[in-house]
Amino acid sequence: VESVIVAIDGPSGTGKSSTSKAVAAKLGLRYLDTGAQYRAITWWMITNGVDVEDAQAVAVAAAKPVIVSGTDPAAPSISVDGLDAAGPIRTQEVTSKVSAVSAVPEVRTLITDLQRSIAAQADGGIVVEGRDIGTTVLPDADLKVFLTASPEARAARRSGELKGADVHATKEALIKRDAADSSRKTSPLAKADDAVEVDTTELTLDQVIECVVTLVEEKR
Ligand code: C5P
Repeated sequence: VESVIVAIDGPSGTGKSSTSKAVAAKLGLRYLDTGAQYRAITWWMITNGVDVEDAQAVAVAAAKPVIVSGTDPAAPSISVDGLDAAGPIRTQEVTSKVSAVSAVPEVRTLITDLQRSIAAQADGGIVVEGRDIGTTVLPDADLKVFLTASPEARAARRSGELKGADVHATKEALIKRDAADSSRKTSPLAKADDAVEVDTTELTLDQVIECVVTLVEEKR
């Protein structure tokens, strides 16, 4: 396979982003953070006064924002209507509202189409990370990886990233978001039947990267 497509899915805090970026950089592939796209549309809904709990309103507004993702693994970027959204999409407000927005079928259809066109245009191949990449967005991916980790490990990693955030509160929020993402009707967080599951609880980031690089090389 000269143009390899890699799908990396799993719940939050399993190291998806760090792993996906590093694997893409090492292998000369493009990189797409699909969570950032759902966060970007959520940020747009919030700043434009759309009630994110109102699925009908979210569905109607979904096509308005123009979301552009930069796919360089060394400098991934995301913009909404030409505005840099990299900072604003990481706030607690966006994090707490993104599951409601991403559960709306119209939102998923639009973002899934965008993801497929980005993957199709990625010369040399791409690593795409998310929740439903292996099951729904790119079911023909050359390699599918499903990352897992214990809730304790995931909360500890996330609190570390948020510099001193309360581990217990972070764990509760993570569990709540994963439960919402796993139980929604349209393309929930799920492991594809043909995905390779990697439990990262006892692994360092470098070990996870090495493991995924080896899996990709086996497919090339
Ligand atoms: O990966 P990240 O934590 O940034 O994802 C934010 C949210 O975006 C997830 O909690 C989920 O609600 C949504 N998402 C999704 N499908 C994807 C990627 C993310 O529904 N492929």
